[in-house]
Amino acid sequence: MKFLFINGVNLGMTGRREKGVYGTQTLNEINSEIASRFKGDECEFYQSDIEGEICAKLHSADCDGIILNAGAFTHYSYAIRDAIASIDIPVVEVHMSNVHAREEFRHTSVISAVCKGVVAGFGKNSYILAAESFKL
Ligand code: DQA
Repeated sequence: MKFLFINGVNLGMTGRREKGVYGTQTLNEINSEIASRFKGDECEFYQSDIEGEICAKLHSADCDGIILNAGAFTHYSYAIRDAIASIDIPVVEVHMSNVHAREEFRHTSVISAVCKGVVAGFGKNSYILAAESFKL
């Protein structure tokens, strides 16, 4: 399968920010682990802090499944929501932390309704579980 992993705003700081929440591994280290886990598949990794760039990446995606951790954009970006709705490729929403056990503003996702499903709370394994879901 061909997977596209998209990470949004501040996820490039993973390993350096809020280590108690997001762990000490960098995004590159996490991506390498994911790639080695899905050796038989094609994995593309993309990160951007810019909302419009994420929309453009979604528009031009050519793959079987998208694993999207939109970061804080999750909670308010109608632009990313509409970009997901505008493509036919299924998108799984991912969060490393359990957003429902955190601050109130993280309990709202404006993208969940247009995603195939949601995986949250399993650290870097949230990405792996989300990708696995495409194989069920
Ligand atoms: C996050 C949760 C979001 O609320 C937060 O803004 C992030 C990361 C997660 O992976 O747990 O940046 O998406």
